[in-house]
Amino acid sequence: MLLTMSTTVLSGIRATGRLHLGNYLGAVKGMLALQQEEAISTFFMVADVHTITTPYNIDELRINRREVIIDYLAAGLDPERSTLFLQSMVGEHLELAFLFSSVMSIARMQHLPTFKDKVKQYPEHATMALLNYPLLMAADILLYKANLVPVGIDQEPHIEITRQVARKMNEVYGTQLPEPQRFATKGEYVPSLQGIGKMSKSVEGSYISLTDTKTEILDRLKQAPTDSGVGRLTAMSQGVKNLLQLVELFSGAEKRKEYESQYEDTGIRYGALKAELATAIFAELKPLQERRQQFIAKPKLVDEVIEAGVTKARAVARETLDEVKEKMGLG
Ligand code: ADP
Ligand code: TRP
Repeated sequence: MLLTMSTTVLSGIRATGRLHLGNYLGAVKGMLALQQEEAISTFFMVADVHTITTPYNIDELRINRREVIIDYLAAGLDPERSTLFLQSMVGEHLELAFLFSSVMSIARMQHLPTFKDKVKQYPEHATMALLNYPLLMAADILLYKANLVPVGIDQEPHIEITRQVARKMNEVYGTQLPEPQRFATKGEYVPSLQGIGKMSKSVEGSYISLTDTKTEILDRLKQAPTDSGVGRLTAMSQGVKNLLQLVELFSGAEKRKEYESQYEDTGIRYGALKAELATAIFAELKPLQERRQQFIAKPKLVDEVIEAGVTKARAVARETLDEVKEKMGLG
């Protein structure tokens, strides 16, 4: 993708708990790569309002939304280069989401696979907040006129809705909102350790947390399904494919090829593979964990980062919201 002077980036992560390898590889790594580019503006928020769209614990949310900022800082997001903020502290997000709801049909929202999945997961909580989730996300992105969004592949339907909202708003009201694209990383889909589906916070046993110790990482990998070691006689199982994908992401394509040859030849010794993989994963997480401790020890600094980020975000958000309201006859 061509990155130009006018590239603006926004991304966010819900405050639902500890970040895991999927969040890191699919979203945070993309944020880090884009932050490196001098010419582009980067906005990274905690989607704390999105957290209330599914059942949640109030005390945990209070803690988690700050923890995500600490995770961002620990991962290397730099407040000197990127605007880091909490979505709930910039009220314009909610205001714009409501304005967007005037150009989107109920049917389109109800048919989104992400909505249907969540309703299946929480049948008692098919709320309006959940239905409006993608419009709030569209507001997050379009308030900053962001044209590039580093997120995992599971978020593609939401980016598509965002493009549709922008097109409709531009058509109906004459606004000039961009149609954003997803910025994909090599880890855009990190599989679950259980062999089926993606790694996710909401599925216990599916993930490795960024704060896990080496022993915890190995223990979690030990639970991951493989095969009897003579799997080469049949088609490769999903569990083995997933482990090889993690090997590629943390130890490189060459290492994966080595294991693939072993698979065809003598069969893989999965105990050894898992031990080696745990070492590679921990090597990448260790510096993050050390930086995390440093930020935990400096709560005032974290407060200042949030405050400065909110002030910067608010200024940009206000301008876009005023433009949109003016076009809609509400200025
Ligand atoms: P979860 O599904 O674990 O609750 P979120 O929905 O909060 O995670 O996702 C936050 C970010 O991390 C999004 O950009 C999402 O696309 C990305 N992400 C989540 N899980 C994965 C995964 N398994 N592989 C790649 N990216 C992921
Ligand atoms: N929906 C995203 C997720 O579940 C979180 C999110 C909210 C987001 N607003 C955003 C991501 C804006 C990118 C841009 O992961």
